[in-house]
Amino acid sequence: MTTMLDREPAAADGSADDPTPVIRLTDVRKIYGSGSMHVTAVDGVSLRIDPGEYVSITGPSGSGKSTLMHIIGCLDVLSSGRYELSGEDVSVLDEVELAQIRNRRIGFVFQQFNLLPHLSAWRNVELGLIYAGVPRADRKRRAIEALAKVGLADRIGHKPGELSGGQQQRVAVARALVGDPTLLLADEPTGNLDSKSTEDALGLLDELHAQGRTIVLITHEHDVARRSGRTIAVRDGRITADEVLR
Ligand SMILES: Nc1ncnc2c1ncn2[C@@H]1O[C@H](COP(=O)(O)OP(=O)(O)OP(=O)(O)O)[C@@H](O)[C@H]1O
Ligand SMILES: [Mg+2]
Repeated sequence: MTTMLDREPAAADGSADDPTPVIRLTDVRKIYGSGSMHVTAVDGVSLRIDPGEYVSITGPSGSGKSTLMHIIGCLDVLSSGRYELSGEDVSVLDEVELAQIRNRRIGFVFQQFNLLPHLSAWRNVELGLIYAGVPRADRKRRAIEALAKVGLADRIGHKPGELSGGQQQRVAVARALVGDPTLLLADEPTGNLDSKSTEDALGLLDELHAQGRTIVLITHEHDVARRSGRTIAVRDGRITADEVLR
């Protein structure tokens, strides 16, 4: 089991300050539809994100942010270009292979939480481990540990409807992290939260980043984007700015 502090092997020349990027996109395009009905949602994006970076992606509605996240998250295949995830070319993989990569290496947090309403918090978190093939005996313990890490040790038996929006999002974060992924992807994770819960969720992301996680956060909100270390602006499927904040 890799941990979040594991690093990829150093570059071929041995230089420690040139780690294998977690994400390397080269001239990536995603075209939906065909002929006169086609939409170029991602239009020639090249991007490198290194281990431990906390990057936000901003841009107007329809600019291609979620499409880009779906590609980075191996939820969707590229129309053209190349995608290497931790040095592995994933642009050549089929659906089954992509699903395996997703389960083992990537944690997702969505605006709508995407929790199953009839399952308790720990059962929701455990799901991530079932798909990853973790034995039953380990699953409950790890799910409860993950919930404790997000401050929900006393809510493990609650169903989503018995939790506040902020608590539901923390369950979703626990589910994303329980498999110890290399990469955490969050698409508008604070979009459905009040200001107090937004602050809690962002504090949690800050902590995860401080522990060495690589995080990519999509957000409309300037204040939320400023919490990351680097902001990438997207417009019409292209990167228009890429700014390191700290
Ligand atoms: N499955 C799809 N089929 C066809 N077109 C799509 C599909 N998904 C997205 N698009 C189109 O691709 C473009 C980019 O969409 P995307 O969802 O990536 O935007 P976004 O930046 O995430 O927007 P928002 O801020 O509203 O979430 C849009 O023009 C959208 O209509
Ligand atoms: Mg979107």
